[in-house]
Amino acid sequence: MTATIAVTKETRAGETRVAATPETVKKLMGLGYKVTVETGAGLAASILDADYAAAGATIAASGPASLSAADIVLKVRGPSDAEIAALKPGSIVVALMNPYNDRPMIEALAAKGASAFAMEFVPRITRAQVMDALSSQANLAGYRAVIEAAEAYGRVLPMMMTAAGTVAAAKVFIMGVGVAGLQAIATARRLGAVVTATDVRPATKEQVESLGAKFLAVEDEEFKNAQTAGGYAKEMSADYQAKQAALVSSHIAKQDIVITTALIPGRPAPKLVSAEQVASMKPGSVLVDLAIEQGGNVVGAELDKTVITANGAKIMGIPNLPGRIATDASALYARNLFAFVGLLGLQEGKVSADLEDEILKASALTHGGAIVHPAFKPS
Ligand code: NAI
Repeated sequence: MTATIAVTKETRAGETRVAATPETVKKLMGLGYKVTVETGAGLAASILDADYAAAGATIAASGPASLSAADIVLKVRGPSDAEIAALKPGSIVVALMNPYNDRPMIEALAAKGASAFAMEFVPRITRAQVMDALSSQANLAGYRAVIEAAEAYGRVLPMMMTAAGTVAAAKVFIMGVGVAGLQAIATARRLGAVVTATDVRPATKEQVESLGAKFLAVEDEEFKNAQTAGGYAKEMSADYQAKQAALVSSHIAKQDIVITTALIPGRPAPKLVSAEQVASMKPGSVLVDLAIEQGGNVVGAELDKTVITANGAKIMGIPNLPGRIATDASALYARNLFAFVGLLGLQEGKVSADLEDEILKASALTHGGAIVHPAFKPS
């Protein structure tokens, strides 16, 4: 008996990425697995069935059929109800589960007896860097946010001196300097914009400056302690947020493009740009809200819409930015998953997940018919 890995076509609306590429199919087979890919799974990421078949995968005519025989299921997004129903009891499902926003899915996975792992919860330790899907996708999202902003902006980003006169460089302000924000800074700089950035974590100041951008923040005692041991931001006090807002207000009024990326794990995204601040911007200004799927950083941003305000600013609430560069996003994510699968045990066709392993333990949502992650265990 050979253990089987199934890769299905993503079922969530607008999801263009795929959880395996021909490269990772080959590598997974090298670990001793048989790989089944649902027909059409890679099409939106420009990968044909024939490419998977050439790599050694079996092409399945339907998702559910391949799931009922799979020991491991690799996905981009968490499985749908129909997919959960089709799972083989005891199988392992690995995906970006969006766990804080999908409790019913976690319960259904537990009830089915599946071991579900959330790629979001892979801890940020050195050994797990190669599996860090949040980073691989956020990096691409940061890049794409600048490209989207540049496309929507009715002017150019670099300064241009032409015979017909000089065009000024665009002023770009990045709010939230995690992985996405850093790539947004680098991309905007490469396009020739004048870039400033802000974050509540003190460590970001040096990173911003090393990319040739200017740092802007209220650097008080709270700011000095705003980073958790895990490297994430804490939720800031109302007092700090008010001071931050005052500092940022005069700055935003002068910006052409604002890109917001601020997140706090497990919490709604902090509101960083008020309606008044948006109203202070020039006509033609562009705001891209990368936190839109977690509620948004910009007041007035709407999911999957470009809102044009009365003063002529555009607020873009584009979901799934990595999905707009699905080929590269899939390639990196598939490698993250391949590394993750390497943590699982495989002996005589039997797959096992040892929850003593730090990475598996941190990312396990369900196991043995129960919810095991402390954030979701029934109290
Ligand atoms: P994230 O996606 O959770 O948040 C994005 C950014 O928003 C963060 O920089 C955060 O500080 C910022 N933010 C939160 N509230 C804010 C507010 N009120 N105003 C302004 N900014 C605010 O962060 P991400 O990208 O996941 O990175 C978090 C940390 O993890 C960083 O220190 C990053 O360098 C680190 N990291 C470590 C890795 C490793 O060691 N393997 C890999 C990737 C990231």
